[in-house]
Amino acid sequence: MSTQNMYQTILTEVKNNIFYVTINREAKLNALNIQTLTDIKNAVLSIYDNAEVRGVILTGSGKKAFAAGADIAEFAEFNVEQGTKMSAEGHAVLRAIENSPKPVVAAINGFALGGGNELAMSCHIRIAAENARFGQPEVNLGITPGYAGTQRLAQLIGRGRALEYLMTADMIDAQTALNLGLVNHVVPADNLMAKCEEILEKIKTKSPLAIASVIRCVNAYYEKRADGNEVEVNEFGNFFGSEDFMEGTKAFMERRPANFKGN
Ligand code: COA
Repeated sequence: MSTQNMYQTILTEVKNNIFYVTINREAKLNALNIQTLTDIKNAVLSIYDNAEVRGVILTGSGKKAFAAGADIAEFAEFNVEQGTKMSAEGHAVLRAIENSPKPVVAAINGFALGGGNELAMSCHIRIAAENARFGQPEVNLGITPGYAGTQRLAQLIGRGRALEYLMTADMIDAQTALNLGLVNHVVPADNLMAKCEEILEKIKTKSPLAIASVIRCVNAYYEKRADGNEVEVNEFGNFFGSEDFMEGTKAFMERRPANFKGN
């Protein structure tokens, strides 16, 4: 399935059960205007129930940027109401990624600043090219992050370190991002997609039911009013009787690879 023409600001394609989403505003360093966020959200939602898709890779076009932030030119004249709406909508887009039942890997091919870093942080796994640069420069513009950067950065690298980067607006190079736990791996730019694909190829061999469940359980910890342990107990119990669970245990006993169907 190829759906290149469905969206205005992104390119999408399914290859080998992986859904590729590429932000296609290279001349603007893939800055996230509202149309781009809407396109990303619709693209991600479109594969929630698509059994052919087993994982998503999200990246930016060109060699310079994953996404250099929310589109400053677009929001520069916004009033309070528009600013609040922009933030709420951005939060909803990033939650759609975070709650995707298919693993979403960010292939960070350059600048991931402001909304770009927030977008990357909403993905389940982040792989950075050696030239990637991260940061939340919003205070330079006289605002705070608006797409959950204050929340997810603190979750990923700890409150004290997050506060420093959020208040200094310092840029973080790829190796530092790795040391901080902001990204999972750093690879040469030419290996970026291959590394993302290698990880998804591994995940593809597992039960899609179990993968979706892992995502729900881990996310539950960060959800208001959810008890992550309780969610895990329920999720675990629900597997008994599933075909994937029976296949997984049978394959182990028969010393062969499991062939999961997602049922
Ligand atoms: N919003 C809108 N346009 C952006 C943008 C953003 N966040 N980031 C980059 N662009 C545009 C530039 O305006 C420029 O457009 P133009 O050629 O029409 O003038 C183009 O992308 C290239 O960017 P440029 O600044 O010329 O590249 P650079 O290599 O000199 O600098 C950055 C790269 C990333 C350091 C710089 O673009 C930057 O600081 N961007 C803003 C980052 C930011 O504050 N993001 C948080 C927003 S809340």
